[in-house]
Amino acid sequence: MGQLYLNKVHKSYGHFEVIKGVTLDVRDGEFVVFVGPSGCGKSTLLRMIAGLDDTTGGDIVIDGERVNDKPPVKRGIAMVFQSYALYPHMSVFENIAFPLRVEGMEEAKIKEKVEGVAKILKLDQRLQQRPGLLSGGQRQRVAIGRAIVREPKIFLFDEPLSNLDAALRADMRIELTKLHRELKATMIYVTHDQIEAMTMADRIVVLNAGDIAQVGAPLELYHKPANLFVAGFIGNPKMNFVPVICTAAGQQGITVEYQGQSITVPVEPRDGVVGKTLTLGIRPEHTLLGAGDLNLTVLPSVIERLGINTIAYAALPTGEPYCALLPGSAPAEVDKPLVTGAKATDCHLFDAEGVAFERRIDISKLDMPESIAG
Ligand SMILES: Nc1ncnc2c1ncn2[C@@H]1O[C@H](COP(=O)(O)OP(=O)(O)OP(=O)(O)O)[C@@H](O)[C@H]1O
Ligand SMILES: [Mg+2]
Repeated sequence: MGQLYLNKVHKSYGHFEVIKGVTLDVRDGEFVVFVGPSGCGKSTLLRMIAGLDDTTGGDIVIDGERVNDKPPVKRGIAMVFQSYALYPHMSVFENIAFPLRVEGMEEAKIKEKVEGVAKILKLDQRLQQRPGLLSGGQRQRVAIGRAIVREPKIFLFDEPLSNLDAALRADMRIELTKLHRELKATMIYVTHDQIEAMTMADRIVVLNAGDIAQVGAPLELYHKPANLFVAGFIGNPKMNFVPVICTAAGQQGITVEYQGQSITVPVEPRDGVVGKTLTLGIRPEHTLLGAGDLNLTVLPSVIERLGINTIAYAALPTGEPYCALLPGSAPAEVDKPLVTGAKATDCHLFDAEGVAFERRIDISKLDMPESIAG
């Protein structure tokens, strides 16, 4: 079992409150990813779960038992960091065997365990080598091996792949996903990489300044971000925000006006919004070339041609930035007005406090490739 429950967990350094009461239930075998801006408290939260840092309030509960006062080794947790921290003078075998030797396990059992883990991680041909001879990806696998042999209930990963080059990172991402499936262990994984978060997570926890901004399945956060923060954080390039005035709210949704044009966004209406300034959200990948339910003539200042796509960094007529993710061959040019549009069903809408109006879409029925490609 590897069930984790965080109950109103707090952490302060002096008067500085780093974690402001985080409550989270992680199921046995679940892969949960923590994302959030630098300094929002991701590592602090992991370190408290591992027992490397004290909490200043709340409960950390593993398999029904409060572990706040238990030392790290007694919690059944293994942590893998960005820096692999291997012993350079020891072989791969000895590096992986290290925690078992500390436990005092007998030699034959150690051999069996290390060889088993090495096989899973495709390190079986490397066991006698020193870490210095290995690539970054292989070294990280040794560090993961050292975590696996302990058979922890819960794995904690703090940006384990961020030192690797892009190709190796992609390989390791896939290997870790397979490993999770094989071990069926609970994993909590911190990353700054959108692709890792979207592809590896059963659920993503978005943290903002020590608070949870939203928890949900990756596509739930993509299609139904609960607030402006999550809307701007999940998705790359980030969602565009257009200031609009609400002119009506009814059965069809909420009607807003931008520069004399009206668009009715299919969201759950609320009382008292008519006349208010709201924020319309349009993802760059939902930008149409030519007219849509709302037309936006934007002025590109930078164009990036990536082959598969073209990204235009532009400005709206009202001056706000607008990014458009367009087909590779899109006829966009710097300083030449570009007529774009957006479909009402692709739009998001947020109130003055940044809280999203609930979109009327059923995520389970979305045709995924089509909706992502726009
Ligand atoms: N020992 C400490 N003393 C005082 N403040 C600390 C200490 N450790 C961390 N902090 C502060 O706590 C906040 C959260 O830090 P943390 O390392 O958890 O952020 P993070 O989300 O992991 O960021 P990153 O993405 O950059 O790794 C930061 O503002 C940091 O300065
Ligand atoms: Mg960190």
